[in-house]
Amino acid sequence: MNKMQPTATAPGVKQVPLLTTSEIARFKRDGFLVLPAVLDPELCHQAREAMWDAVATHLPHLKRDDPTTWKPASDKKSARLNAQRPDIGGDPYVFTEGHRFYVRNGAEQFMLDLAPRALWQVAEQLLGEGTVVWPAGADDSGYTTGPCFMSDDVVAGLATHGVEDTGQWPVEGSFTTEAALRLPGTGPVWSTGQGARGLYCTLPGSPSPGPDYRGAHSDGACYGRVRFQVTAYIDDLPPGSGGFTVWPGSHIRVWRDQWQAFLEGEKHTDDHLPERKAGGYTDPVILRTKADTRPVDCHGPAGTVVLWHTKILHIAGQNTSTDVIRQATIYGFQKTPESLPDPLVTDETNVDIWRDWSEEVRAVNELQ
Ligand SMILES: [Fe+2]
Repeated sequence: MNKMQPTATAPGVKQVPLLTTSEIARFKRDGFLVLPAVLDPELCHQAREAMWDAVATHLPHLKRDDPTTWKPASDKKSARLNAQRPDIGGDPYVFTEGHRFYVRNGAEQFMLDLAPRALWQVAEQLLGEGTVVWPAGADDSGYTTGPCFMSDDVVAGLATHGVEDTGQWPVEGSFTTEAALRLPGTGPVWSTGQGARGLYCTLPGSPSPGPDYRGAHSDGACYGRVRFQVTAYIDDLPPGSGGFTVWPGSHIRVWRDQWQAFLEGEKHTDDHLPERKAGGYTDPVILRTKADTRPVDCHGPAGTVVLWHTKILHIAGQNTSTDVIRQATIYGFQKTPESLPDPLVTDETNVDIWRDWSEEVRAVNELQ
């Protein structure tokens, strides 16, 4: 058996139940699905302890037993933290931006057991058995190794997340797959499916995104290997506390328009263009969606998972609470190079949004 691609479910990791036909239908129609409290409470507990350990070391002004201290770090403190990149490259282990702070522990084994591996059988149900990249995580040297489709946005992400420019890939991307790209554990490990995005946390009293939801976006490019992502809460998350917020149905509209733009020649990183159709933030389809669709705040108890189509319009919600830190981890499931060869990644037949999904998913009528 190929070590990187086991065909069985993750040994020892309790699996989230398979989706029902009506759940699949809702997922296809809305582009997201909330599964309340499906993750192992012990692993959620472990992840919370890891977060508070990281806070005690890097953000000691946040006292666990005193929510009145749960305030952003000073600019000076943030700048100092954000400059502390590991010797092997990648993002700092903990960094901050306003009311957000991040713990880049997503390639650690327990974080992969927590959500990506617990959802392995669901991932195979949705994308097809034997077609999903296995999240192996970091090895003893702190590196991860996995396949990577080197498109323009992925190459740009390497530099942004502390991976030195080796000159190995053109800045516009080669649009071919590196079979075994090595990335530091705190690097952009979501590009290879080897790690989750660690913990994305929002402190209480975060600012409003405004009536036009500036900051709402669709992740990355339409081309690539990620087909759906999961956002998982490791602690209770009441409504209005910074939950993952989505625009139902936007996945279909954004997918279609971004593919059309790509087939007309626009790439995700073409920000020099006066008018973008596939930039992910201000595309006409995104402005239209914001104008005619009400966003949904996905909340739930600890262990809740939001499954979402990778192109859905979303934003991390405003945390209006006074005593809740929104604690979420995010992971994107990718199709393997064997199941989705490079020419198909950028093939025009991809305008069929469910082309690369399982027969089971393709057979379900989303309108039922
Ligand atoms: Fe995003």
